[in-house]
Amino acid sequence: MAQKNIVVVGAGVIGISSALLLRKAGHAVTIIARDFPAPFETIDPINQINYTSPWGGAHNRWVPPSPAQPHTALEHPLSLSTYSHMKKLHSLHPQTAGITFLPGIEYLESPPPEYLSLSSPTDPVARSLASLCGFRVLPPSSHPDAKVKWACEYETYCVNPMVYLTFLLRRFFHQGGKIVRQELRSISEVFALRPAEDLLLGQPSSSSSSQCARIDAVVNASGTNFGQDPDVFVTRGQTVLVAEECDATVTRQNSDGSWTFSVPRGFEGGTVIGGTKEVGNWDVKPDPKVREELLKKFGETYPKIFKEGGKKELTVLRDIVGRRPTRKGGPRIEGEVLDAQGGGGGGGGGFVMHAYGLGGRGYELSWGVAEKVVEGVEKYFQGQEEEAKAKL
Ligand SMILES: Cc1cc2nc3c(=O)[nH]c(=O)nc-3n(C[C@H](O)[C@H](O)[C@H](O)COP(=O)(O)OP(=O)(O)OC[C@H]3O[C@@H](n4cnc5c(N)ncnc54)[C@H](O)[C@@H]3O)c2cc1C
Ligand SMILES: *[C@@H]1O[C@H](CO)[C@@H](O)[C@H](O)[C@H]1NC(C)=O
Ligand SMILES: *[C@@H]1O[C@H](CO)[C@@H](O)[C@H](O)[C@H]1NC(C)=O
Repeated sequence: MAQKNIVVVGAGVIGISSALLLRKAGHAVTIIARDFPAPFETIDPINQINYTSPWGGAHNRWVPPSPAQPHTALEHPLSLSTYSHMKKLHSLHPQTAGITFLPGIEYLESPPPEYLSLSSPTDPVARSLASLCGFRVLPPSSHPDAKVKWACEYETYCVNPMVYLTFLLRRFFHQGGKIVRQELRSISEVFALRPAEDLLLGQPSSSSSSQCARIDAVVNASGTNFGQDPDVFVTRGQTVLVAEECDATVTRQNSDGSWTFSVPRGFEGGTVIGGTKEVGNWDVKPDPKVREELLKKFGETYPKIFKEGGKKELTVLRDIVGRRPTRKGGPRIEGEVLDAQGGGGGGGGGFVMHAYGLGGRGYELSWGVAEKVVEGVEKYFQGQEEEAKAKL
């Protein structure tokens, strides 16, 4: 396929992963975003609260497909392909990619039916996970206390979000990708930009052919920020970062619906202890009472984190508040042709591949989503080529 000019809007985990795979497929790719990855310590907790990727954990925790939430069946294969991709990246770049492989342990106090069926040795999801990552259900003798009704363990990965994303962005740049920092009012604004001059796409703008360069497709990986999709909402998460390195990513589902977890970030990033899931809460300020509660509950669940004998306090580095870009019915990963008036705001029309609304799963689904983005964009180009041929 001839090289196309593609703009990816967004430099969170979804935008950067998609941009990399599109570049790998041979296209001219530019990322436009307001926020870019940077050292975690420098990201502004107030002004960059809407940039979710720095505030994630981020670990991979399997979510077995649930009939009550149909989108989980679509997400599961994306998590499997992301796992394999992470494994490969980690083995090629163990010191630099920001990925750590380690045990994942889960304790559930009120396990939903799709978890209980993983206990059956013939369950297809459990079987595929067993061969992929050594997934196994733990016997009651391994439960930390009697409130836990179901538990499992497997090999999984955590990423240090900003180490990982700066690594990916650097690779993108090294492979000839272009990067533009700009805040947009809408997606359709991109089609009105003059690629050669504004975006450095293709050849330098002095060459006459580049005057005709146009943008062939736009990827909408904007998280929640355009706020034009009524199904998108935020799920606030408050966590606390401690200096200790936990030796596993442990997740506990409490019977009151709350969650207790640890996500070791690796690469001197400490461990995230979490965390809340508060639908529609826009509060940017961390609540100190919540911090105390998170630390207490995690210490009770996994006392192994207190490595030094007798020590019962963790070293708090800071609180974290983030907004998971959640969407009713699951993420939107599909193509759409916008007409010149569409897209809510002045600008042109063209093909948009949506990839937003990943909620609390952006990292663990990222490569699967990026593959879907490449597929969607190329399917559109193929359709166009066939149409053009038919007209000859
Ligand atoms: C507390 C917490 C814990 C989490 N833990 C995990 C976990 O363990 N595992 C996991 O997989 N996920 C986790 N997540 C979820 C994960 O962080 C998100 O799903 C993911 O970061 C979303 O990435 P994104 O690329 O869609 O959006 P974002 O990271 O928000 O990126 C959006 C991009 O679009 C740009 N943009 C938006 N609007 C505009 C505009 N108008 N003009 C220009 N640019 C624009 C932004 O600048 C940014 O570059 C967690 C989230 C939170 C808050
Ligand atoms: C975050 O997004 C919300 C909703 O679009 C907006 O009201 C708010 O001003 C944004 N915050 C920042 C710091 O940009
Ligand atoms: C792009 O994504 C945002 C979510 O960040 C959504 O609100 C918006 O409607 C999408 N743009 C278009 C043109 O559909």
